[in-house]
Amino acid sequence: MVSLLRLSLAPVVMIVALAGPVLAQEAGDATSESVTPEIILAGSNLYNGGTCIICHAIAGKGSGTRAPDLSDVEWLHSQGDLDGILQTILAGVSQQNIKAVKPRQFPMNPKGGLNVPDEQIANVAAYVWALSQPEPHEFIEQQWRFLELARSGQFADARAVFEAAQQTYPDNLLVPENGMNAFGYEFLGSGDVDGAIEVFQLNVDLHPEAFNPWDSLAEAYMTKGDNERAIEYYQKSLDLNPQNTNAVDKLKELGAE
Ligand code: HEC
Repeated sequence: MVSLLRLSLAPVVMIVALAGPVLAQEAGDATSESVTPEIILAGSNLYNGGTCIICHAIAGKGSGTRAPDLSDVEWLHSQGDLDGILQTILAGVSQQNIKAVKPRQFPMNPKGGLNVPDEQIANVAAYVWALSQPEPHEFIEQQWRFLELARSGQFADARAVFEAAQQTYPDNLLVPENGMNAFGYEFLGSGDVDGAIEVFQLNVDLHPEAFNPWDSLAEAYMTKGDNERAIEYYQKSLDLNPQNTNAVDKLKELGAE
């Protein structure tokens, strides 16, 4: 239902549950001591479970032409210090301030489109800062590993990495539900329907009671031309959320209702 394109074309606003610790406001002189593992995990939940992932991809690894890699040490809008990163995220990047030589298509809304208080954005900034540090947190390394394996089509290994991380960090998913869905659309957008099915299937397995992953899985099967499964999964999504008008429309289109 929440498709990548629709999300990025419209002004992006997503409400993310407020949770976790809050980074002290004096973010200017960040050290590995002030950016605690707790803060990194809280920032990761907001980043990878919210809007940032749509343009900057899992753990900042870029996604083609949409937005820059946040895990390298090249910074276009600040010096890469925590406060500079925080100010960029708070302000966003308007169309005329986009620096890429070939203009990127979508500007970045203030707070990257995240509808959370500034204190929570400080956690996101700490997470982004941590992505470019010489020794990133192990959780971040595992996010990159998951991304790399999935992007190279090694889905069984990607799943294994994901599950191992769940054992170590039972309260934090490497990629939360909304982020995993956005990741699936990365595959669908590049024409890799089978890759998208793998990602959406993983999301469905992780969140069997959530309607949106089923809707996306159905969309991928519909794209593949497997209408039987598309109908089954749109129906499943609709059972879980009777308000899902997208599923109603698609079921009509598929001749099922
Ligand atoms: C709609 C796409 C989009 C979304 C969503 C988005 N960004 Fe961006 N972001 C961009 C673009 C475009 C730029 C500027 C690129 C350029 O100047 O070439 C940018 C720049 C940045 C920069 C500065 C990078 C640098 O090199 O100085 C940071 C930091 C950043 N984004 C973090 C975030 C975070 C954190 C989120 C989520 C809260 C987010 N962005 C959401 C598109 C997006």
